[in-house]
Amino acid sequence: MKEQKATNVVWHEHKVTREEREQLLKQKGAVLWFTGLSGSGKSTIASEVSYKLQSMGRLTYILDGDNIRHGLNKDLGFSPEDRNENIRRISEVANLFADAGVITITAFISPYRKYRNFCRELIGNDRFIEIYAKASLETCEKRDPKGMYKKARAGIIKDFTGIDAPYEEPENPELIIDTDKETVDESAKRVLQKLQEKGYIKP
Ligand code: ADX
Repeated sequence: MKEQKATNVVWHEHKVTREEREQLLKQKGAVLWFTGLSGSGKSTIASEVSYKLQSMGRLTYILDGDNIRHGLNKDLGFSPEDRNENIRRISEVANLFADAGVITITAFISPYRKYRNFCRELIGNDRFIEIYAKASLETCEKRDPKGMYKKARAGIIKDFTGIDAPYEEPENPELIIDTDKETVDESAKRVLQKLQEKGYIKP
């Protein structure tokens, strides 16, 4: 984990509190953390969940791996160190969004358990919902929406998750969605159901 470089900085409490922001929005800030192989359906389901919540009058925002790597994290590649820095930064950003009262949805492979747990600790167990988009490598490879697996198999892309870089499955996620079998709509509904169970939204 990164050391704090600036030592002469003091935390400042502001006038408007998180609770007041949440009252204004009539919702509780949270992080829905999707994890899974490339092509497992993270972004697609995140998008559907966001759409459904928006229709219910909830404010959401998606932080998506492929998008964030065009901006905030454009200086990072796919070495273990860079992936960890990717997730560390996203965890901090997700924490800010959740603090703003937003239902924050992240869609990153986030292959290392340790860094997913870093985010869990940062956000707090009560506001962090880890969702494992589970699909076999075979399925992901068959879908290959961006042609990446083909390139990885051909050795054109190195260190590709599931091929020549590891993916550590979650041990205790709040939810597993089986995207091999479930439709996008079914998976998204199961996520909403989990949010209801946890009291984030009313039935
Ligand atoms: S993570 O491992 O650091 O969490 P992230 O979710 O941001 O990854 O980015 C993954 C996306 O980058 C994939 O969906 C894929 O399109 C693209 N990508 C490019 N190279 C790789 C690679 N070597 N391994 C995995 N994904 C890659």
